[in-house]
Parts: sequence; structure tokens; C-alpha cells
Amino acid sequence: MKVEANKVNALVDMPKMVVSVRDNAGNDNALVVAYGGNCSYDPPMIMVGIVPSRHSYHMIKENGCFVAHLLDASQTELYECCGQKSGKDSDKLKDYNVKMTDGKKVNAGVIEACPVAIECTVVDSIKTGSHEMFIGKVEYVHADKEILGDDDKIDMAKLNLI
Ligand SMILES: Cc1cc2nc3c(=O)[nH]c(=O)nc-3n(C[C@H](O)[C@H](O)[C@H](O)COP(=O)(O)O)c2cc1C
Repeated sequence: MKVEANKVNALVDMPKMVVSVRDNAGNDNALVVAYGGNCSYDPPMIMVGIVPSRHSYHMIKENGCFVAHLLDASQTELYECCGQKSGKDSDKLKDYNVKMTDGKKVNAGVIEACPVAIECTVVDSIKTGSHEMFIGKVEYVHADKEILGDDDKIDMAKLNLI
């Protein structure tokens, strides 16, 4: 028997990401994002949904780029720090000693410990309701060597995502 389910979390299995952003003064921040995913195969594009009240929101608006990270299941501390604390209150990345390097192609930080980091330039955005969806052109993908399969494509079966 089928019944009507709640519309709010109909797509339950979207991978959760940590999205890093940087403001024009060079301050880094990151937040957990569940609203997002692939949105173009050619050219490769992904989207991330950010609520305007987040501290990260003005940073992505200001700087027009982001880095989307996939997390290993073991990275619970990073996940909790980015998903529960706000950059409005403290520098959470510094507080949790999160090691970052500069993006190769975009002006935002790459979290070294994450198995996948996708550098993107924002090419468009759309306010859908609660979230603004930022469409990012994929500029560079960092990945742990051991998770790559044929043609250097990420083999999702080799990832144990959070
Ligand atoms: C599982 C989970 C999913 C989340 N998904 C989103 C999301 O898609 N978009 C968003 O703006 N915030 C989302 N959040 C909330 C932000 O990650 C959280 O409010 C964060 O502290 C904001 O940080 P900031 O104020 O420094 O930007 C999510 C949090 C969790 C724990």
C-alpha cells in the first residue's frame, strides 16, 4: 500500500557536504550543506543551497566561489563543528585546528583531510524558498588517489561517506 509521505525530506540520500567559503578580507568559513548535488554533466556543475541567515551566505555572495568537500564517516568532529557552530560567533576552523590550503583555481580554502574537494566558481544562483541555490562550475577536483577508478573518476563505492 502507498500513502502520501512528507514532502520535506523526500530525497533522503543526498550526500552531505562541508562547503568552504572565503570573504573579501581573506577570512575562511565552512558549513554543512545537505541541500545540493549535481546539476550539469557537461559542463560539470554542482549546486549548494545556503540559507541567507548563515554567516557563510554573505561570503559566497561576496567572493563568488566555494569548495564542496565530501567527508569520510570518521570525520565527525569536523562535521559537527561546521554544522553546529556559526562563523558569526567564532572562527570555528581555527578553534578545531582544521588544516586548509588555498584552492588551486578559486579563492577559497581546501580542507586537506577530506577525501574529495571540489573547487567551484559561482556562475548563477536561484532563490528557491528557504535556500539560495548557488550553481558552481567545477574548476578542479582534489581526490585521494586510492578512491579513483577508471579514467580517474571517483569510485563512490570506495568512499565511506558520513
Ligand atoms: C545535517 C545538516 C545539514 C545542513 N544543511 C544545510 C544546508 O543545506 N544549507 C544551509 O544553509 N545550512 C545547512 N545546515 C546548517 C548549517 O551547516 C549551520 O547552520 C552552520 O552552523 C552555519 O554556519 P555559518 O553560520 O558559519 O555559515 C545543515 C546542518 C546540518 C547539521
